[in-house]
Amino acid sequence: MIDPAGDDRNEPPPSIDVTKPSVARVYDMLLGGKDNYESDRVIYRQIMEVAPDLPVWARENRRWLQRAVSWLTREHRISQFLDLGAGLPTAQNTHQIAQGINPVTKVVYVDNDPSVIAHGRALLLDNEYTDFAAADFTRPHQVLSDEAVVVGLDADRPFGLIEALVLHHVPDLDHAREIQAAYLDKLPSGSFVAISHACNPRDGSETARVAEAFEQRLAPSFPDLRFRTPEEILSLFGDLKVLSPGLVRLSDWNPYGEVDLEAPDIDDASNFLYCAVARKP
Ligand SMILES: C[S@@+](CC[C@H](N)C(=O)[O-])C[C@H]1O[C@@H](n2cnc3c(N)ncnc32)[C@H](O)[C@@H]1O
Repeated sequence: MIDPAGDDRNEPPPSIDVTKPSVARVYDMLLGGKDNYESDRVIYRQIMEVAPDLPVWARENRRWLQRAVSWLTREHRISQFLDLGAGLPTAQNTHQIAQGINPVTKVVYVDNDPSVIAHGRALLLDNEYTDFAAADFTRPHQVLSDEAVVVGLDADRPFGLIEALVLHHVPDLDHAREIQAAYLDKLPSGSFVAISHACNPRDGSETARVAEAFEQRLAPSFPDLRFRTPEEILSLFGDLKVLSPGLVRLSDWNPYGEVDLEAPDIDDASNFLYCAVARKP
């Protein structure tokens, strides 16, 4: 079990209201980070009551990100990424993964959480090919015209659009689809979209039970969080063709079809995080 203790002795920047929990900081706690406050730890404890395996699946989300970005960089020669809802920097962020394969890969991160903006920017800007846009990803036109995006990415070459555990923060499905349509429309041909998303299969399964318990427990603090069915998640790819292996649990996404020897040895039923990758023709 991760020790979730944070360090309140660090004076938070004035832009951060530590009395309110932050999705970015709670998620960082799940990954073992220490950048959190009591308001976040209250939520972490609530999560542990209903979904004690979530730290395992949060780490699986980062391992999936690593596989997806490596595959796009290595096999599809994608050399620019737009990472929406980047989160607090942790080990192996998109730019480190991609630039470990192709050092001149450009990466622009987007996030609107004051903690991410305050702490993340400096840490993420460790090279000239990486930039950060402090923007709301639900406003695609604003994001795509942000200076970091306009200067950092070439609008005529294929992108990797990364949306890892972020679209479930848009409560209305039609709005989420509209946001997606705006991004997908602007993506150059040959681009890829990688999505991971909280799923409630609503089929009476153990996964559905855990997902429902999670949604209900977290609703008072994070009312915008929406788990979606597999069909609803797939609809966020618009008309794009989802590539093999389709929409699957994080640990099952491997485009090479290899057995993942590092996959966690616990029952998948508690894993409500799903992912898929699609390509724009
Ligand atoms: C669960 S974390 C995921 C972080 C990272 N993408 C990952 O998968 O490891 C969700 C992130 O999305 C960000 N986020 C949520 N809503 C956002 C919005 N409207 N605009 C920009 N970022 C947002 C949060 O601040 C948080 O950092």
